[in-house]
Amino acid sequence: MTKIKNFPSALFSFWVLLLTQATSTLATNELDTRVNNSCPPGERAALLTLKAGFVDPKHRLSSWEGHDCCSWSGITCSKATGHVVKLDLSNTYIQELGFFHDYNYALGGEIRSSLLSLRYLNYLDLSYNNFSYTKIPHFIGALKDLRYLNLSLSNFGGRIPPQLGNLSNLQYLDLCANYFDGNIPPQIGNLSNLQHLDLSWTFIYSYEVAWLAHLTSLKHLDLSTINLSGSINWERLGMLLHLQTLYLSDCKLNETSFSLPHVNFTKLSTFDLSFNEFSNPQSLIWVWNMTDLRSVVFSGNNFDGRLLNALRNMNSIQELFLDYNNLMDMKSSDLKNLTNVKLLELSRNQLTRDITKFMEGMSPYGLQSLYLSENNFYGNLSSWIGRMLA
Ligand SMILES: *[C@@H]1O[C@H](CO)[C@@H](O)[C@H](O)[C@H]1NC(C)=O
Ligand SMILES: *[C@@H]1O[C@H](CO)[C@@H](O)[C@H](O)[C@H]1NC(C)=O
Ligand SMILES: *[C@@H]1O[C@H](CO)[C@@H](O)[C@H](O)[C@H]1NC(C)=O
Ligand SMILES: *[C@@H]1O[C@H](CO)[C@@H](O)[C@H](O)[C@H]1NC(C)=O
Ligand SMILES: *[C@@H]1O[C@H](CO)[C@@H](O)[C@H](O)[C@H]1NC(C)=O
Ligand SMILES: *[C@@H]1O[C@H](CO)[C@@H](O)[C@H](O)[C@H]1NC(C)=O
Ligand SMILES: *[C@@H]1O[C@H](CO)[C@@H](O)[C@H](O)[C@H]1NC(C)=O
Ligand SMILES: *[C@@H]1O[C@H](CO)[C@@H](O)[C@H](O)[C@H]1NC(C)=O
Ligand SMILES: *[C@@H]1O[C@H](CO)[C@@H](O)[C@H](O)[C@H]1NC(C)=O
Ligand SMILES: *[C@@H]1O[C@H](CO)[C@@H](O)[C@H](O)[C@H]1NC(C)=O
Ligand SMILES: *[C@@H]1O[C@H](CO)[C@@H](O)[C@H](O)[C@H]1NC(C)=O
Repeated sequence: MTKIKNFPSALFSFWVLLLTQATSTLATNELDTRVNNSCPPGERAALLTLKAGFVDPKHRLSSWEGHDCCSWSGITCSKATGHVVKLDLSNTYIQELGFFHDYNYALGGEIRSSLLSLRYLNYLDLSYNNFSYTKIPHFIGALKDLRYLNLSLSNFGGRIPPQLGNLSNLQYLDLCANYFDGNIPPQIGNLSNLQHLDLSWTFIYSYEVAWLAHLTSLKHLDLSTINLSGSINWERLGMLLHLQTLYLSDCKLNETSFSLPHVNFTKLSTFDLSFNEFSNPQSLIWVWNMTDLRSVVFSGNNFDGRLLNALRNMNSIQELFLDYNNLMDMKSSDLKNLTNVKLLELSRNQLTRDITKFMEGMSPYGLQSLYLSENNFYGNLSSWIGRMLA
């Protein structure tokens, strides 16, 4: 007290000066301040409400206490504005147990609408949690800044809310491996900035796919296991100029239902059409012109030797999966022009040839992996193996 009373006035004005300066530095360095002691109180409260709705048996959100929500696990704040921009609650403790996964560390319970108070959120990842077959809350469609939304492998159910179509800035949408029912909402077609769409393993169907035509930024599309046999307007797929990877595995498609006379995308590098019902390669005429195709997965159809003829000029191919088809009389020379193939999967066809001759014919190709199980090869491999080891 005495000290303050006796505070020399010169010194006092010095301090005042220093404080004014500090204040003005503070103003210009506002960004720093916000980053250091920040977390907007409204957003902190919203996160605590969200936490209270979750069931969290392994206390993954135990760091969600105290003042600075920007330092809580899974939260990222903007360096520029201090607002919460990223919420990553993906369950990284997941362990693969064969086909199944161990969900011990999963979050569950309720996703509360306080999420909407995180108005600047552009990244939301809730993958690998367990929401017990409840619906995706429709209000997620109001997080208008979202660019990344990952709700994969999280045991969501019910219909996919059409409100997701309001997320016009979305670039990544991953809903794979959930238990939805009903149709693909055509409003998904409103997401014209989408680059990556994964709806595989979601138990939904689609009567038509015209909505795809609006997704003009799409690079990656996975609709595997969706029953698309009744879908019409496939030709619209041809308008997706930027498409690089296309997965249509087990979509119940055949040459009648999947008819695509012409496409404008030329950058396709991975095409998976496995486990459908194709037999005539002529119906895929647009494929045989693709000059960037590296990975071709045609396993599990009814293709016969005509397929090899169709593939004959595709020297960009590096991985070729033709297992589970009806290739009976393939010769090694059929692959003569496929000079870049590193992996060739031919298991479970009915190849009937002398194995030694076949393997000798394969030698020049520079293959790294060759699978031939469950065919009708005959002859004696030992002499060929002997020469390989010599
Ligand atoms: C914020 O923290 C950083 C380092 O963590 C430091 O360099 C900077 O000066 C701090 N800014 C303020 C305003 O405290
Ligand atoms: C998810 O939670 C439900 C109960 O809410 C439970 O029946 C189910 O087994 C859980 N799923 C997994 C994969 O643990
Ligand atoms: C979504 O999350 C899953 C699981 O964490 C991950 O494997 C997948 O790559 C993510 N999807 C995208 C588009 O990033
Ligand atoms: C969001 O989408 C729904 C259904 O598609 C629509 O009825 C609603 O008007 C949209 N809301 C906004 C704010 O755009
Ligand atoms: C969104 O999708 C619906 C249904 O496909 C369509 O009627 C509507 O015009 C679309 N809105 C925009 C803004 O593209
Ligand atoms: C697939 O969908 C079509 C109609 O769109 C239906 O007739 C068919 O039974 C479905 N197939 C399977 C295996 O569900
Ligand atoms: C491909 O592009 C041409 C010229 O831009 C256009 O006329 C045609 O309709 C397009 N075809 C498809 C299937 O998108
Ligand atoms: C293709 O599938 C459709 C719908 O499932 C079916 O009606 C049609 O007979 C099939 N066509 C061929 C050639 O198998
Ligand atoms: C394949 O390419 C040739 C030559 O570039 C072209 O004339 C033909 O129309 C193309 N075919 C298809 C189905 O795109
Ligand atoms: C290899 O390509 C050439 C030129 O395109 C073609 O004439 C020939 O038939 C092809 N050979 C095989 C075995 O497909
Ligand atoms: C296969 O060939 C090797 C060496 O040429 C010979 O030793 C072996 O007995 C043959 N095996 C059979 C089953 O013919």
